Formats: sequence, structure tokens, C-alpha cells
Amino acid sequence: MSASSASQKLVSAPVAHLEGRVRAPGDKSISHRALMFGAVTVGETTIEGLLEGEDILSSAAALRSLGATVDRTGAGAWCVRGVGVGGFREPSDVLDMGNSGTAARLLSGLIASHAFTSFMTGDASMRRRPMMRVIEPLSRMGARFIAREGGRLPMAVTGAPTMLPIEYRLPVASAQVKSAILLAGLNTPGETTVIEPEPTRDHTERMLQGFGATVRTRALDDGARAITIVGQPELAGNRHIVVPGDPSSAAFAVVAAAIRPGSDVLVENVGINPTRAGLYETLREMGAALTFENERVMGGESVADIRVRGGALKGIDVPPHRAPSMIDEYPILAVAAACADGTTRMQGVAELRAKESDRLASVAAGLEANGVRFEIGADYLHVQGCNGAPPGGGLVATHLDHRIAMAFLVLGTAAKATVAVDDGATINTSFPGFAALMNGLGAKIT
Ligand code: S3P
Repeated sequence: MSASSASQKLVSAPVAHLEGRVRAPGDKSISHRALMFGAVTVGETTIEGLLEGEDILSSAAALRSLGATVDRTGAGAWCVRGVGVGGFREPSDVLDMGNSGTAARLLSGLIASHAFTSFMTGDASMRRRPMMRVIEPLSRMGARFIAREGGRLPMAVTGAPTMLPIEYRLPVASAQVKSAILLAGLNTPGETTVIEPEPTRDHTERMLQGFGATVRTRALDDGARAITIVGQPELAGNRHIVVPGDPSSAAFAVVAAAIRPGSDVLVENVGINPTRAGLYETLREMGAALTFENERVMGGESVADIRVRGGALKGIDVPPHRAPSMIDEYPILAVAAACADGTTRMQGVAELRAKESDRLASVAAGLEANGVRFEIGADYLHVQGCNGAPPGGGLVATHLDHRIAMAFLVLGTAAKATVAVDDGATINTSFPGFAALMNGLGAKIT
């Protein structure tokens, strides 16, 4: 886990261009869900293409502590023997979520309906992140929580023997909160409904349906959507899940190629679910030569190979309503924006302050260290592009945030001078092998 890993400085030197074909690592969101949902079926779930990053290993360890059998059978191949809906047992030790907000929030939802007490913690980044957003709705359903001030980890969760179904309108666009409530609803009599004002990633809904749960989604008059789960099904076991590549991880190679004229890169096997694909739409609007090839459906998710050629980009206004579909991609978008001609305005992105680090502040500090001009506010970041290579030469503080580390290493490939990040070890949470993959395309990350 990154809390215990030694920090490791990485440097990225400028290169002429990037070229080649790579395969994106497994999708982090889908990998967490495959393990967790497998753990509440009766029977055996086999998974291929699972992301073997530290975040996912945190989920796997927690599920074992709760009584599920979770085994690795080969590279990316895993097998989960579930305990059935409502079948978890009291863990004998603290559940350590490491760096993973998805593990912490989704598991809170799952354990909230079990009549035992468990304790949850995480690394220094995770212990700063808000949990009140799940504590509040799950308390309405009957669970009890004792957390640190402001609803921070470590916290204790005492589940309710019988939960109450609720209808809950999300105050923030968050797939983690939506999923936590739906997962609590899984072991709650009756129907539990979450209303989301903006569509967020829908992997929970899709995969639960794949396991045989009844999940209905309907559009409301005000443009919101209501997602209802019918409680206490017996989820079908013996499913095989194929995890597609992660669009949020693919984004680093794609942007690295897009900002370097002469580059030509194909990233294979990338999930292009519309609730995740906002960055790709944005890059096209900026003028990137980006195409989806060989589009297909894999395990209920749309997948494509993404081909991108380097060229000139222009600054654009990124609409706030697009934020949920690219919420993890703003750090790397800021890097694309730094190389573009003109200003890129990212608006309505206050949620970035609640990620692995305060990403608005971390990105701004990284841009500053590398000679890129910007304007920052409570919920916006405007990046003034350098119309080509940014100065570079900076040392970037990653604050235990994998995406800050990867984004600024990509900046280094296209800058005038080498860019360093203080801690590359955190990349292992979501993208083990990142430096080797990028170097295979021609980057110089050491
Ligand atoms: C995720 C949802 C998003 C995203 C995170 C993964 C998920 O978080 O940032 O990396 O798997 O549901 P929020 O729900 O907090 O927006």
C-alpha cells in the first residue's frame, strides 16, 4: 500500500515523439466492482483482465476479511467465491482501504446492512477525504457511524440488521456515493432509489444487472435520472467477467501522443462507456486527431482501440456538465491545455478538491513549477497554453496522488526541460507498469 511504500522520485525527459501500440491496464472502477459483487453472490465468479493495482488489492483484502474467498489464479485472472447478499461476517481487524476512495465508499455501503461493527482506515490521503457523503445517506437507512471530525477515516461502522429503503437525491455528482447507496439497497427490503442530477459512471448498475439484480433507471422531468434497486435478490454466481481497459489510464498515453507532433499511438482495449469518455470528446474539440477503431462490446461495456496522432491543439471551454464523465482526467487535460494554443477553461470542478489530493491545487502547483500560467478559483482552473512545448524544469509534489504523478511525467515528455515528480510509487495504486509502458512508446521516464 502506498502508505507503506517508500517514495520514489521519477524524472521525465523531453522526447521527439511517441510511437507504437500498447494495451491499457484493466479498468479500476470495474475491477473493484467485479470483486465486490462477486463477493455477494452465491457461487464462483471468475474475472479476467483485473487491474492488479494497490487500490484493487485493498478491496480484495477487505473482502477476504469479510468472509469471501478471493484468489489470484493467473496474471489478471481472479476467482471469487461469494457469501451471498447479507452473508458477510465481522472482520477481526481494521479494514485498510489504502489510497482507495472507491474501496472505502462502496464497501461502506456493502457492510452498512450487516449487523456487526467494523473499523475502516486508509493512507494519509484517504484519511483526509470526505466520508460524510456516504455516512449521511447510509445513516438514514439505519447504519451507525463514528468517524473523525468532518466525517474522516478512521471510522467505525455498525450495520443495521434491517435497513430502511430510501429515496435519496445526490448533493454531489458521485458514482461512489450512488453505488454505496445501491449496494446498501441490495440487502434492504423494498426499493431503494438514488436520484443523480448529472449522469455519473454506471458500471454498478450494469454489472448488478449482469448478476441478475433488478435495477431500473428512468429519466426525470428536470433532466436528472432515478436509479432504483429492488432489495434482497439472490445474485447469480458462476459469472465470468472480462474487465476492459481503463479510459482514465489510457488517457496518459493518449495525451502524451496528442501533444507531441509526429506521434502516432494506438491504445488497445479501452472502455468508451459514454459516462467515462468526456476527455476524448474534449481532446477532439481541442483539435486532436483521435479515432475509435474496432468498436465492440465486452462484458456489457463498449470498448475500442484509440488511435491518436500528435499535432497542434487549441484551448477550449470545457462545459461543467461534462465533469462527471471525465472527473479523473482533469490533471492530464491540464497538461494538454499547457501545450495548446490559447486558454482552456475548466469550470464547475470543485469536486477535484475531494480527490486523492486537492487536485485543483496540486495541478496548479505543478503548472507553476513548470512555467505554465494559469488562473485558479474555488471551482475552476484556466490554463494558458504555451502553443507548443511548455518550459518544464520543475519538481512536482504528488501528495500521494497517482494521477498528479502520471500527468506531470507526461508533461515532461513534451516540455523544454526535464520534469520530476517527488513520488512515483503512488502510481502503483492504479497503473503498475506505467513508466515501462510509456518508455515502450519512446518516453524517457527514469
Ligand atoms: C469512481 C468514481 C469517481 C472517480 C473514482 C472512481 C468509481 O469518484 O473519481 O476514481 O469507481 O465509482 P466520485 O464518485 O467521488 O466522483
